[in-house]
Amino acid sequence: MTAVTSSSNGAAAPTAPLLTARGVSSGYGAIPVISDVHLEVRAGEIVAMLGSNGAGKTTTLLTLAGELPVTSGEIAFLGSTSRSSLYQRSRQGLAYVTEERSVFMRLTVMENLRLASADRDEAFALFPELKSLAGRRAGLLSGGEQQMLALARALARKPKLLLADELSLGLAPMVVDRLLAAVRRAADQGVGVLLVEQHVGKVLKYADRAYVMRRGRIAMSGTAGEMRSRMAEIEESYLSRVARPDEAAGRQRTARPRRSPDG
Ligand SMILES: Nc1ncnc2c1ncn2[C@@H]1O[C@H](COP(=O)(O)OP(=O)(O)O)[C@@H](O)[C@H]1O
Ligand SMILES: [Mg+2]
Repeated sequence: MTAVTSSSNGAAAPTAPLLTARGVSSGYGAIPVISDVHLEVRAGEIVAMLGSNGAGKTTTLLTLAGELPVTSGEIAFLGSTSRSSLYQRSRQGLAYVTEERSVFMRLTVMENLRLASADRDEAFALFPELKSLAGRRAGLLSGGEQQMLALARALARKPKLLLADELSLGLAPMVVDRLLAAVRRAADQGVGVLLVEQHVGKVLKYADRAYVMRRGRIAMSGTAGEMRSRMAEIEESYLSRVARPDEAAGRQRTARPRRSPDG
């Protein structure tokens, strides 16, 4: 069956999902965090993942990327069920910009691009300011420049699917718009994007659809338009900060999987 989705520029395109999660549960060791997550991402669309701190958004991305094992349910990537690692998935066209900025701080901008086998002309076309910073160490860039570099590294490899976790964390609104506009352009060229974002109002201007997570489950989903018209309800019911269960219980956290920018 072929489904039809419409992108924000109004064009309707028949696409099969790039990524599908069916009833996926996972967590850290014996600690379950996400349960029964169903979602999909198609080529050419930006799907926003919203939810308060501790809702399980990062855990979901880690699981979709192959960094955390699925405890039940299944993930299909590019049409077939996958239990492959992030490394294997990234070779198949998955790009993952993690919550921590996905750059090597001690390497220069150019070295970062080279290591990612990113097309540097493509990267400089996305964010022209990176060109004059090419010889500078990533650790000396501003937060916004580091995030541009992280996104350029990811997009200049021409991925099929981009997972991005809180690109805009701590950045000025103008920089956030530039990052989101670059993501939108990539989506309009066919990349499927799953974008975790706290700036709900802003991201819904760029996204096609959204899911809202609460306590490890998908609590709500809809088009960006539907979500915009229910903003008050979403903010009230789902986005107020809730104490993380481990904070409440003073629970020991286990280390997250260690990730290099290239998986
Ligand atoms: N390494 C870990 N070990 C144990 N629990 C964790 C770990 N990382 C996150 N958690 C717990 O998983 C839940 C979801 O966290 P996370 O996926 O980071 O949420 P979000 O990205 O939505 O803020 C929280 O209760 C958090 O405390
Ligand atoms: Mg997170």
